[in-house]
Amino acid sequence: MKILAFETTCDETSAAVLEGRALRSNAVYSQVPLHRKYSGVVPELASRAHLEKIPVVLGGALGRAGIRTPLKRGAVGAVAFSRGPGLPGALMVGRVAAEAAAELAGAPLIGVNHLEGHLLACEFEKGSASRPLQFPLAALLVSGGHTELWHARGYGDYKVLGRTRDDAAGEAFDKVAKLLGLDYPGGPAVEREAAKAKGKGPEFPRPFMPGTRDFSFSGLKTAVSYYLAGRLGQDFYKRGGRLPPGEIALVCRAFQDSVVETLVKKTAETARSLGLERIAVGGGVSANGALRKAFARLEGFEVRFSEKAYCSDNAAMVALCALRRLEAGKYRNSLRVDPGLSDPCW
Ligand code: KG4
Ligand code: ZN
Repeated sequence: MKILAFETTCDETSAAVLEGRALRSNAVYSQVPLHRKYSGVVPELASRAHLEKIPVVLGGALGRAGIRTPLKRGAVGAVAFSRGPGLPGALMVGRVAAEAAAELAGAPLIGVNHLEGHLLACEFEKGSASRPLQFPLAALLVSGGHTELWHARGYGDYKVLGRTRDDAAGEAFDKVAKLLGLDYPGGPAVEREAAKAKGKGPEFPRPFMPGTRDFSFSGLKTAVSYYLAGRLGQDFYKRGGRLPPGEIALVCRAFQDSVVETLVKKTAETARSLGLERIAVGGGVSANGALRKAFARLEGFEVRFSEKAYCSDNAAMVALCALRRLEAGKYRNSLRVDPGLSDPCW
């Protein structure tokens, strides 16, 4: 069976076709250049860009999968879209496109949880969902908008153990990059700078928050901001004050070390306390090399990451969610988008 899927939660417009476990196509249009000058995603611009690009990615995805347009009845067996969490206007674009496609194909419409998509992206290998996750496991989902720790007991059977109380991990990377005058998105920029660090630099606190499985990264961001104010003066940001390149690298390394150590320790502690031997990490921040290395060094756990191409937002992972849910008989037809979707089992 072929599944056509759409992803429009934030700043990537994507459509994909999955046939059985084989990914036939995964067209992604990244809006990063559009949002770069604002150092963050501008929701209205994102919605407009989704509207403009969705026919393009859809055409690309169908063409590569050898499916003729306009869609004929039965051309695909199901249509999936990310129903949340995400930006309201952006989600609506994916939903409307999916509804139209489902109507034409006479196929069921399956709304999936975007974060479950990030988890299941770990199953792709060389264009096929050929490495099914083994449950139970602890899932760490780290993106621009979310940092969540789940107890995953099976497809569609998840319990949220912890969430960020303020900034998501990716958001902290983006904000720290902005404070340092680095490029957007901040994650890859901070990682690149951190790799250049030489010698001793500052150290920042680790926001472990003992006694809870929740996360908090806004204090760490503030610690970086105080450090910069100490070096460059209180109004450094307004004046466009910048550290010399060598020192930027040291701050990036110190910040990244703190985020990585916090994420790895809290995930490992949680997994251990629940007797879980497997960990899966998904979302944009999971592309980070230092995070991957730190998890790989953990003893006593089998740790899974997705291939780097599937860490950031894409419709392939949305299609895979629909497939796993169809196989498990745990899907719901839905037309409703839910920007604040917090139910992991949806
Ligand atoms: O999952 P994603 O593509 O979109 C959301 O669902 O939010 O995640 C985007 C986030 C951004 O905050 C970006 O800075 C971060 O992932 N990111 C990284 C890296 N690549 C992307 N953070 C740290 N290191 C990276 N290499
Ligand atoms: Zn995402």
